[in-house]
Amino acid sequence: MSAEPMQDTRPFEHVTRDPWWRDAVVYQVYLRSFADGNGDGIGDFPGLRARLPYLAELGVDAVWVTPHYVSGGADGGYDVVDFTAVDPDYGTVEDVRGLVEDAHALGLRVLLDIVPNHTSDQHPWFQRALADPDSPEAARYHFRPANEDGGDEPPNNWQSMFGGPAWSRTPDGRWYLHLFTPQQPDLDWRNPEVVADFDRTLRFWFDLGVDGFRVDVAYGLFKDPAYRDNPGIYSPTLFGHGPEQAMTTNQPEVHDIWRRWRALCDSYAEPRMLVGEVSLADLSEVGRYARPDELHHAFQFRLLKSDWDAASFADTIAEALTAFDAVGAPAPWVLGNHDKARQVTRYGSVRRARAAALLMLALPGSAYLYAGEELGLPEADVPVASRRDPIFFRSGGKRAGRDGCRIPMPWEASRPNAGFSAATPWLPQPAGWPGHAVDRQESDPDSTFTLYQQALMARRLHPALGSGRASVTRHGDVVRVDLVARDGEPGPVTCWVNMGSAPVTVAARTLLLASSPGVPGPVDGRLTLAADTAVWVSR
Ligand code: NOJ
Ligand code: CA
Repeated sequence: MSAEPMQDTRPFEHVTRDPWWRDAVVYQVYLRSFADGNGDGIGDFPGLRARLPYLAELGVDAVWVTPHYVSGGADGGYDVVDFTAVDPDYGTVEDVRGLVEDAHALGLRVLLDIVPNHTSDQHPWFQRALADPDSPEAARYHFRPANEDGGDEPPNNWQSMFGGPAWSRTPDGRWYLHLFTPQQPDLDWRNPEVVADFDRTLRFWFDLGVDGFRVDVAYGLFKDPAYRDNPGIYSPTLFGHGPEQAMTTNQPEVHDIWRRWRALCDSYAEPRMLVGEVSLADLSEVGRYARPDELHHAFQFRLLKSDWDAASFADTIAEALTAFDAVGAPAPWVLGNHDKARQVTRYGSVRRARAAALLMLALPGSAYLYAGEELGLPEADVPVASRRDPIFFRSGGKRAGRDGCRIPMPWEASRPNAGFSAATPWLPQPAGWPGHAVDRQESDPDSTFTLYQQALMARRLHPALGSGRASVTRHGDVVRVDLVARDGEPGPVTCWVNMGSAPVTVAARTLLLASSPGVPGPVDGRLTLAADTAVWVSR
């Protein structure tokens, strides 16, 4: 018998491939505002599931869903009552399973949002802790005894990030710690039962097929064991927490937890991934959270907090690249999220927001898009009677809060509520919303949606974009990023951004993509770049 050579019928795959998350584009869905599947005015899992083809068409790699758990409703779902149950507003655990299955079939991954720093005050642990100061549940939070003299002074000077003291009192006079609202008591991560419980939560969702988690307040969790005063007061206008918050943020023990969670992720045949919220001002400190055995991505918010200013953008990008290169981690880039006013309004025009997007999508590392930025949505002015955000109320109306970037998505211009829901949406949509609808933009070659789609396509195809090496320079109001593929081939791409008010001439051989329509092609190796535009060119 002649031996037939064995046929290799395995599907073609690149031999050496980086893990998917290194250069992934992740699309953040604010679940309550994305798509309503059952017509009650609230976004939900069936709605999101039905819109997955839209995300595939846009060209992202993964979707991150903001908290979906049974919640006390005090902070947009970031006050969790049950970490393994789905809020009935959003659907069921089976809906999550179905979402994951459909997403995987489309080549998309699904990240959920986990909230380990605190629970809801409605959580059964905290309820038990209130009822019995000597219970094991009470030992899972930070309780301090009632003042001996009966006075009203909190145990120390720690402040809530949403305003006011970080301590509130129980009916029996004890103090408990909450770095956010009083409805979000902080857990004590030095208690092993807390650690073990979160292992179980991670496994519960991973076993369902979920690909990873965005980790809320990943720079938090541990606090100074002696409860010493903070040297200063947190200011939300800063780039992030610094030494003034030394007692409540960035404690060394937190890195042990990320090593533990990373090992748990890596124990799966298809390793799961973690992206942590690391709001620290010092980028080299942020980088330490993304060391090879810790979080896969550590969000830094310097770019998110940069104004439309060439020096600010260029310095931030250069510093972040250095900080993440030092630990061999990809830099995660973010221009917008559910905590920050929309780019269009912050920068002053949709033109600028489009230019910033082109800049971000050229950079090596991962990019996080916030639902609606691909439509060029502006920040909405929410009537006071409709506001929901505790920041607005706890600051006595001094801080506008985050409702304006959490408005339900416009899908179809001519349908009621711009196609989000047959019922009145949970937050009102402004009058101009249908004009931004997806169905208006999908077929328009000049729309913001089309720009994002083209940029994501080019990023997939061109090895210098998204996963190459970058060097950043600034020439007056112009930011220049030179990008080369890691193996040097094919030749370099340059991203030019004109953040000034006058046109400039830049070097360019061919124009790959422009952030605004009407940018003329290069002549004799030069291209005229109007104010507030960006281009990708080869030189
Ligand atoms: C960060 C989240 O992004 C924000 O929305 C939330 O209010 C706080 N963490 C508290 O969980
Ligand atoms: Ca619904």
